[in-house]
Amino acid sequence: MSIIVNVHVKNLKMPEYDFKIINSDEELKEYFKIRNDIFVKEQNIFPESDIDDYDKDAIHIAAVQNSTGKMVGAVRCYNTEGDTWVGGRLSASNGFRNGRVGYNLVRFAVKSVKARGCTKFLAYVQPQNVKFFKRLDWKPVGEMFSHHGKPHQLMEADLGKG
Ligand SMILES: CC(C)(COP(=O)(O)OP(=O)(O)OC[C@H]1O[C@@H](n2cnc3c(N)ncnc32)[C@H](O)[C@@H]1OP(=O)(O)O)[C@@H](O)C(=O)NCCC(=O)NCCS
Repeated sequence: MSIIVNVHVKNLKMPEYDFKIINSDEELKEYFKIRNDIFVKEQNIFPESDIDDYDKDAIHIAAVQNSTGKMVGAVRCYNTEGDTWVGGRLSASNGFRNGRVGYNLVRFAVKSVKARGCTKFLAYVQPQNVKFFKRLDWKPVGEMFSHHGKPHQLMEADLGKG
């Protein structure tokens, strides 16, 4: 599967941040560092690295602070089967939370997968973030279960919105 598609997704703009699909090795390095800081060092979900096989063909999305050019947020989306996509590794760097970085990363991810023909967009969400996703019109699917040794709720986006 190729990550290059012909459909252009317009960059989402906020006054402070730009949201974009990563397209260079340099950006990818910075992006993986954000994920490592959060999912390895902060949350201890992975002992050394959170990078896995899904990253090879995933769309990698970043939030960049306009005033400094600093990357401050990340999310990935990958295609599983048919037109089903999964979003994950949603992260806003420490010091950049509660300012709509996460919210707009999810909105940008939804637009990006829809542009690639996605008809079902899922995410494994930690319990403390279920409310955050519900506000973005995502719905829980089934019961809570263990994923990477921590409780998670499978949620599905309303692709009619956003
Ligand atoms: C989850 C995470 C990505 C959210 O990112 P964020 O940039 O802080 O998210 P937002 O600022 O968009 O929203 C956070 C909250 O602040 C509120 N908020 C943010 N800006 C606001 C504003 N201007 N006015 C009112 N409320 C605001 C949002 O409504 C949201 O509230 P909720 O949690 O009750 O829904 C971030 O906390 C994070 O990286 N956590 C660690 C990693 C993690 O847990 N990832 C998710 C795995 S499922």
